[in-house]
Amino acid sequence: MTSAPQGFVRVCALSDLDEDSPKRVEIDGVPVAVVRTEGEVFAINDICSHANVSLSEGEVEDCQIECWLHGSSFDLRTGKPSGLPATKPVPVYPVKTEGDEVFVSVTQES
Ligand code: FES
Repeated sequence: MTSAPQGFVRVCALSDLDEDSPKRVEIDGVPVAVVRTEGEVFAINDICSHANVSLSEGEVEDCQIECWLHGSSFDLRTGKPSGLPATKPVPVYPVKTEGDEVFVSVTQES
C-alpha cells in the first residue's frame, strides 16, 4: 500500500468508489462525503450547511451534490450552494489519488 502524503489520510480504494455514488467516511471525527464523478474525486463535508443532514445520501449531478431534504445543491469543487434554502458553503477538502488509493486532507480546506 502506498503511504499517505503529508497531512492526508487514506480513505478508500479508488475501485471502491462508484461513479456518482457518494461514500461517507470519517477522518479525525470529521464526516466527509467522497464522490467520484466526471473522472475526478472530490471530498466535501458530509453535513448540509442548512441543517444536520448527510449530503452523502443525496444525488450527484453536474459536479454538484444535492441535499435530499430541501434540495439545495453544493458545488463539489467549491462547496458553494447553488440555491436556497442553504446560503452558506460546505467545506471542501483536497483529494489526492495514487494508483488505486484515495487520500483526503481535512486539515486544510481547498
Ligand atoms: S437540510 Fe439541506 S437544504 Fe435543508
